[in-house]
Amino acid sequence: MEQLSLYGGYALSGETTVQGAKNSALPILAATVLSGEECILENCPHLSDVETACEILRYLGAQCTWEGETLFVCCKDLRENTIPQALMQKMRSSILFLGALCARTGRAELSMPGGCQLGDRPIDLHIDALRALGAVVETSDAIVYCQGGDMGGGSYRFPFPSVGATENAMLAAMGCKGPVSLENPAKEPEISDLGVFLQQLGATVGGIGTEVMTILPPQACKPVRHRIIPDRIAAATYLCAVASAGGKIVLQNVDASQLTAVIAPLRRAGCKIRIRGDTLTAARTGALAAPGMVATAPYPGFPTDAQTMLLAAMLRADGITGVQERIFSDRFRQLPQLQKLGAEITIVADTAYVTGVRRLYGAQMRATDLRGGAALAVAALAAEGESIITALDHLDRGYEHIERDLCNLGAKAERKISTR
Ligand code: EPZ
Repeated sequence: MEQLSLYGGYALSGETTVQGAKNSALPILAATVLSGEECILENCPHLSDVETACEILRYLGAQCTWEGETLFVCCKDLRENTIPQALMQKMRSSILFLGALCARTGRAELSMPGGCQLGDRPIDLHIDALRALGAVVETSDAIVYCQGGDMGGGSYRFPFPSVGATENAMLAAMGCKGPVSLENPAKEPEISDLGVFLQQLGATVGGIGTEVMTILPPQACKPVRHRIIPDRIAAATYLCAVASAGGKIVLQNVDASQLTAVIAPLRRAGCKIRIRGDTLTAARTGALAAPGMVATAPYPGFPTDAQTMLLAAMLRADGITGVQERIFSDRFRQLPQLQKLGAEITIVADTAYVTGVRRLYGAQMRATDLRGGAALAVAALAAEGESIITALDHLDRGYEHIERDLCNLGAKAERKISTR
């Protein structure tokens, strides 16, 4: 069993290049199913979730090969439109193959997806959207059956801008005979990246990032070379790391315009953040001040994926930090682990309140999920002595080599094999 050892209490100093975005790569990998031509994905992160997507693609009959950070995918000869339950349960994004397979083959049969446990994660909006476009979808014994051979297109208004449901609808739209209009879709940068990828395949996609997105599929897909956008949540993780530990770091390959909601509370907390092109310099030299209340919201609001790290960074801030989680019903599972360091945290309904303490002490903690695990690392950087984080499989789903990046940034971090 692997574990991450972190010696905290040292200011960071260093530079790293931020990986490509997991949450862009996964829907785009599902989208490669739409095309019989080769798709070349640059800046694709080496993550276990990306490997799972490749496993699914290979099972369906695709070829996936890596050259450094570039992934070549060719779905010319697809032979399957079902995905085994064992693969479906490895991650939430496996459900995106529903829309993609329906569009390409007219049929898909998938079991319910797995993924981080963050509370209820139904797929009702995915199904409603596909039905609105003309697919026949039925569920029985946790299997979803979808017939999409006659999808005419049409419009669907999302009651909530779900990221995954928007992506599934965009993928299904590529198999529709007529135009598709999606109202109140998700507007996350990863949705825009998928929209650009569909445009490169030949689709006409309008209104990306606005209240109404329109999609008209191409007659035939074109070969594509696409560069995955930088991972804004990985960047947010390292910004929170320097807030927590103090010091000065430089991040390359960052789109700071996608981080406005994260940068604002960090600046209120006393961090100095400077943006030059795709380089971001962040420093915290003085004391941390609690930034007050932060509430998660769909993009461009404060991302739920970064709230765990912000809370962890503020464990020693002067005053009270409140984080209201409004996207998922159970995203404070890591807080008892942080309390092992000496953190003072209380939860009232959907809000966690951190009262800053003077000192934190290293402890052994278990990652509860991907971003919860990243939060433990952020907090450990400010805790005196050694902290050990176990259950690294959660972290490896979303961070290429978290220990490498943390070391680049000046942290004393090491991945070890546990003998216990
Ligand atoms: C995506 O998950 C991301 N995953 C998540 O990142 C991220 O936290 C989330 O969007 C919100 O930004 C990927 O992109 C692979 P949603 P997704 O559908 O698509 C409810 C990470 O750590 N809902 O926008 O599952 C749902 O229960 C991961 O990188 C329905 O009710 O998010 C939740 O409360 C974790 N019915 C809310 O909407 C539906 O059919 C947001 O979910 C779908 C969703």
